[in-house]
Amino acid sequence: MAQKLAAGNWKMNGTEASLAEVDAMLAAYPAPGCGVLICPPATLLDRLSRRIGTGPIATGAQDCHMNTKGAHTGDISAEMIKDAGGAYAILGHSERRTDHGETDAIVNAKTAAALAGGLVAVVCIGETEAQRDAGETLDLIGTQLAGSIPDGVSGQTLVVAYEPVWAIGTGRVPTLEQITEVHDFIRARLQERFGADLGGAVSLLYGGSVKPSNAAEIFAVANVDGALVGGASLKAADFGAIIDALQNA
Ligand code: PGA
Repeated sequence: MAQKLAAGNWKMNGTEASLAEVDAMLAAYPAPGCGVLICPPATLLDRLSRRIGTGPIATGAQDCHMNTKGAHTGDISAEMIKDAGGAYAILGHSERRTDHGETDAIVNAKTAAALAGGLVAVVCIGETEAQRDAGETLDLIGTQLAGSIPDGVSGQTLVVAYEPVWAIGTGRVPTLEQITEVHDFIRARLQERFGADLGGAVSLLYGGSVKPSNAAEIFAVANVDGALVGGASLKAADFGAIIDALQNA
C-alpha cells in the first residue's frame, strides 16, 4: 500500500515570518492521519527542520545536486539536505526543467544522488498544454518516467508527482478522468518495471492548482495517494484543509 502524502512546495517563497504558518499546522495536526511534508526554500530548511523537531511534519529540499560535493556554485547536495534536517528532495519539477534546462537524464542522476544520500525522492513529471493537445500525454509521461527514475528504488524511497505543466499555478485542473488515466498509466508502468509490490508501494501525487475546494474529489481518484501543493501550501488554513481532505479520503 502506498503511503498517503500531502506535500507542500513553497518554491521561492518564504522568510522567517513564514515559519509561523508551520507552527499553526503543527498545532492543528499533532498526529495527522497521513504523511505531511514541507519543502521550503533552501534558506529555511535548517530553521524549519529545527522548529519541527520530532514533530509530525517532514521537511525536504526542492532540488538536489547529482554530485556529493565540489565546485558547483549555488547548488546543494544530498548530504547537506540531510544535515539541514531534510528527509526528502523534489527532483525534476517542471520549473527546474524549464528554468534550468533539466533533462530526464539530469533528473535521473539527481534522483540517484538523492537516494544514495538517504533521501526520499519526489520525482515530478507532466505534459505541457501543447503536448496534451497533440495527444502525446501518455507517450511523454512514459518517456519521462523511464528516463527520470534510476534503477534500485524502493517503494519507500520513491514518490512520483504527476503535474501537468498547464495546471501549475494557473487555477486550471485536469478532469478527474484525465487524472485517472495518467495515474493508472503511471502505476502500471511502475509495476511493470519494478514489480507489483514495489510499484504498488510508490506514492503517486497529483500536483497543479490543488486547493481546499478541489482536494477531496482529486483524492477520491484511484491511484491518487496525495498531492504536491504549491500556492495553497503557504497558508496553514489552506494546507490544513487539504490535509483534512487526504485524511478523510
Ligand atoms: P500550484 O503548484 O499548487 O501552485 O499549482 C504545484 C507545484 O508546482 O508543485
